[in-house]
Amino acid sequence: MSIDGNDKVVIFDTTLRDGEQSPGCSMTVAQKLRMARTLADLGVDVIEAGFAAASPRDFEAVQEVARALDGPTICSLARCNGNDIALAARALAPAAKKRLHVFIATSPIHREHKLGMSRREVIARAVEGVSLAREFCRDVEFSAEDAIRTEPEFLAEVMAAVIEAGASTINVPDTVGYTTPDEMSRIIRHLRAEVPGIERVVISAHCHDDLGMAVANSLAAVAAGARQVECTINGIGERAGNCALEEVVMALKTRADYFGVDTGIDTRRLYPASRQLAAIIGSFVPANKAIVGENAFAHEAGIHQHGMLANRETYEIMRPEDVGIHRSTLVLGKHSGRHALNERVRELGFSLTEVELEQLFTRFKHLADRKRQVFDADIEALVAGESGDRGGPWQLASLHTTSSLGEEQLPSAAVALVGADGETVREAAIGDGPVDALLKAMARATATEFELVSMRVRSVSEGEDAQGEAELNARIEGVQYAGRGVDTDIVAACAQAFLEILNRASRRPLPAGREAGKDAGHDNRPARAIPLAAAQR
Ligand code: KIV
Ligand code: ZN
Repeated sequence: MSIDGNDKVVIFDTTLRDGEQSPGCSMTVAQKLRMARTLADLGVDVIEAGFAAASPRDFEAVQEVARALDGPTICSLARCNGNDIALAARALAPAAKKRLHVFIATSPIHREHKLGMSRREVIARAVEGVSLAREFCRDVEFSAEDAIRTEPEFLAEVMAAVIEAGASTINVPDTVGYTTPDEMSRIIRHLRAEVPGIERVVISAHCHDDLGMAVANSLAAVAAGARQVECTINGIGERAGNCALEEVVMALKTRADYFGVDTGIDTRRLYPASRQLAAIIGSFVPANKAIVGENAFAHEAGIHQHGMLANRETYEIMRPEDVGIHRSTLVLGKHSGRHALNERVRELGFSLTEVELEQLFTRFKHLADRKRQVFDADIEALVAGESGDRGGPWQLASLHTTSSLGEEQLPSAAVALVGADGETVREAAIGDGPVDALLKAMARATATEFELVSMRVRSVSEGEDAQGEAELNARIEGVQYAGRGVDTDIVAACAQAFLEILNRASRRPLPAGREAGKDAGHDNRPARAIPLAAAQR
């Protein structure tokens, strides 16, 4: 449906801000930059690169993304206060196209218990924030945090005031993932009917997934007239996550007959983007995840297979290739050259720089020496590995593990790790199994206390020489970290994953007096010291 002649839905990606601030999803500045390039290739309209005032690292990430990309609009979040807005504006200064995104909570529960502000004070602060942001930037978005639980007439009043003050996008966040499609539709229609000047601005939806309805609620908002959706790759985000970009985009495309709108997304890049993010943050995409899960296009039931053979459309509403899933029967091997590899990487939807292609070729040759056939899934895992966290300080020089079944000997591990000073530290441990012993030995070598939260291993492709992928989550000093590793030896894959975790923990910055915690993103009080547990690395 075209609203006032507008049938384009703006895709506002907040993977690097709302997504990144959830436990286990933290990224280095270099990783954010790499992901931002992927988002630009995907065709997102706006990249929310961070919350510049949250920490110096967030500031740097926004600034680096703003410097590097000239396609999409680059955005930073800011509370409605002078310090946040000035920092966001400074970080965004190099951007070719920039947006300042200011917010304040509007619901009674937030007003009373978090802000200690009256309705009047909230409106005044919102207007001040938008007016100040307009001094730095023409493109200003305003979010009424917890809009869904805000009194409808007050929400309309706030939105009218910020439009008057110069906001060009007004965002309706379902901060706690509480709404339903029908309610979301009513709220958007109410705003369209009641807010003076609403026809001049873009209405946006920002939905969290606590009740599993983030995508449905975002789609309901679009059907009711919203023309921006805020979302993240793989739906990562606070608690149960945010609206998943790949799902909302494919719903709009597949049901164009119903929604009648378009996005600028190159959907063939969805799967590579999903894989890349999963590799960066070290987390698996569930096999049954819509659009990008391993089984999303698998048809096992006999009756389905029969129908598919007769006509794919009996059970297939989208083609795997539409979302960038290519399973070619051609395999590469140790005699394949650079050209064949580059060609396959391109076909799989990845765009790598010359340097990255060269590094990939070296890793490919190494893999092809150990594995007769290199499948697409292996190449995806290699590319994803290129996105992994290679930052030190620790390097794994060697490892040796033993397993046992009888009671004579316990499983053991011996490791050698090289620190930033070039010194090699050797340690050994016994454990319940070789991986348990390995993690203990690595922790000893780095003098780290940890608690393993979860561990998953899987085979990347088929065959007895298939590569194994390991994903580990561990808590160190109260902070949860994720790590991922891929190797034809699954114990070595676990070691790589744990090394990533140890390195992330070692690099965690110390709290600084000026920094606002990530959780301050939902708080409008003055900046405060970052709690160690929230510092995230
Ligand atoms: O969930 C939320 O309310 C937010 C806003 C800051 C947009 O992330
Ligand atoms: Zn949010």
